[in-house]
Amino acid sequence: MRIAILKERAAGETRVAATPETVRKFIALGASVSVEVEAGVSASISDSAFIEAGAEMAAQGQAAQGADIVLGVQGPDPAMLAGANPGAWVAAILDPFAQRARVDAYAAAGIEALAMEFMPRITRAQSMDVLSSQSNLSGYKAVIAAADTYGRAFPMMMTAAGTITAARVFVMGVGVAGLQAIATARRLGAQVSATDVRSATKEQIESLGAKPVFVEKVAGIEGEGAGGYATEMSEEYQKAQAELVSSHIAKQDIVITTALIPGRAAPRLVSDAQIASMKPGSVIFDLAVAQGGNVEGSVPDQLVERYGVKILGYSNTPAHLPADAAALYARNLYNFLSAFWDKEQGRPVLDEEIGNAVRLTQGGKIVNERLLG
Ligand code: NAI
Repeated sequence: MRIAILKERAAGETRVAATPETVRKFIALGASVSVEVEAGVSASISDSAFIEAGAEMAAQGQAAQGADIVLGVQGPDPAMLAGANPGAWVAAILDPFAQRARVDAYAAAGIEALAMEFMPRITRAQSMDVLSSQSNLSGYKAVIAAADTYGRAFPMMMTAAGTITAARVFVMGVGVAGLQAIATARRLGAQVSATDVRSATKEQIESLGAKPVFVEKVAGIEGEGAGGYATEMSEEYQKAQAELVSSHIAKQDIVITTALIPGRAAPRLVSDAQIASMKPGSVIFDLAVAQGGNVEGSVPDQLVERYGVKILGYSNTPAHLPADAAALYARNLYNFLSAFWDKEQGRPVLDEEIGNAVRLTQGGKIVNERLLG
């Protein structure tokens, strides 16, 4: 059983799919591990650290030779998998809806492609959940980046020269990233409020010491659909939400938006008119910018200024914390493969629930119902 770790090729991708820790653990399971040269450099992991952990270094483009499992952060170009064993697995964040041609190419090459972001959100898979591990870091980084862009301090400070008031931070969308954004802004001393369409988040917001801002008056809304994810809201709800947010947002210094709806463009939460109502010097960080954006006018990886309000958002937020993001992502992959490790066969054998959820291709065909439907 040979596991290959590729160097990421996508622009701006700084993470890597294994760390010396996970290499050691895979070897302890009986696998051999080959790592493409310089695969970890941008995540502060040297080739020699991988070698010390027991990995063999492979020349550029050669890591997949003889591999049974290829691990990546983003889906590798199918050409990078040349030389892998027949039926080899590739496990990565494959972005199958946007990268359908690549998934078809994996199928045609007889590769079994496993989309890590399709991991079901069930208790036993929490330690394998790459969306959670990466969103958590994104929520933290969004607040840090916004704080760095903001021309004032976050905490209240009483100094001999006078008092500085605490920043008001509003978090829109309270999933994994939003919860971490609330916690981070609170740690920095801000006055924090938050909103979501799922009423279950109200208690979570309060438990972190923040103020919930919720639409109360529209009947028949819950906002929670399958798997605990948000659903698209009615027009009536959207209108009530926009009104509530408009009056609240005008008083905020920092807005962090994190709202996503699986399989759809991100919902628009902040309009240009609402931006115009904010004070000059306010900062908005749009964590959904790469999925179409929650904020009107936000542009990935650019600082946009509207009415004196600074709007920013990264196309790949976890890549801005490469060492931690790689460490957590690599552990997600290890937890996944080791949970299914069959000692007799010396390889992982997936069960039906998780296997059917993450497997996109098998035996030359697309097999995932989310892609077939
Ligand atoms: P997400 O990244 O899909 O969305 C972020 C947040 O935006 C969500 O809370 C969503 O409700 C909210 N949102 C969507 N549309 C909105 C709108 N119009 N206005 C305001 N907010 C809006 O969410 P994430 O972080 O992936 O979490 C989704 C759910 O999955 C949560 O219930 C979470 O607790 C659950 N979960 C379960 C796990 C497990 O059991 N293994 C692991 C991680 C999350």
